[in-house]
Amino acid sequence: MNQHTLSMRLERVAANVPAGARLADIGSDHGYLPVALMHRGVITAAVAGEVANTPFHAAQRTVRDNRLEPRITVRLADGLAAIEPCDGITAISICGMGGETVRDILERGRAHLSGHERLILQPNGGEQPLRQWLMDNGYSIVHEELLRENRFYYEIIVAERAGPVVYTAEQLYFGPLQMQARSPVFLAKWQRLLSQKRKTLASLARARQAVAEEKMREIARQAKWITALLA
Ligand SMILES: C[S@@+](CC[C@H](N)C(=O)[O-])C[C@H]1O[C@@H](n2cnc3c(N)ncnc32)[C@H](O)[C@@H]1O
Repeated sequence: MNQHTLSMRLERVAANVPAGARLADIGSDHGYLPVALMHRGVITAAVAGEVANTPFHAAQRTVRDNRLEPRITVRLADGLAAIEPCDGITAISICGMGGETVRDILERGRAHLSGHERLILQPNGGEQPLRQWLMDNGYSIVHEELLRENRFYYEIIVAERAGPVVYTAEQLYFGPLQMQARSPVFLAKWQRLLSQKRKTLASLARARQAVAEEKMREIARQAKWITALLA
């Protein structure tokens, strides 16, 4: 992967960045996503935010080597603190981190959101708490994708603030649009998770630990949902 050839995962993220956007890519690592989108003429400006020194310097190097310093600003900052009002950001990507981490970045950085930005989120697990945050903060899920790359499943959640929205517990768990679309990759993912959950339940039952009771009930509830989904 580099600034010209993105992974399939980042390609699908890139496909959801609107033409002409001013993008903030938070947790940009090497900065490949904003640099690729700038080369392709998709975005007009970008901020690449990084909290850690090594990826921050890597992103600076990628931007410098591609002579894009005037149009892509690299900032060392925690989460949305990389965004300044004068940036006029219209889209924010946060990719390749756990869903809880993405949620915490959004929650801590609420003051930096105008509410008009499109959020393009690619959590690695923890999708349910992330969708819960989106619902609690008035974001509608306008698009969802699921893809498989190198044996891993990746979800992409695109959200826009559009006023109060209510999702059921199952919709928060599976993804409201994915539940409707029922794509083959979606069904395969949940088939695999169901068999993992059944194995976990069997081993917890063997362990017979009182402390595991609550956990067992939660996993059993999820297994019931998945069974109903796949029925
Ligand atoms: C696994 S990499 C993903 C890089 C790229 N976004 C991608 O999807 O390929 C996660 C990056 O997020 C950065 N990161 C984690 N927490 C962050 C935070 N609170 N603010 C900014 N960057 C963060 C890490 O330093 C790391 O470079």
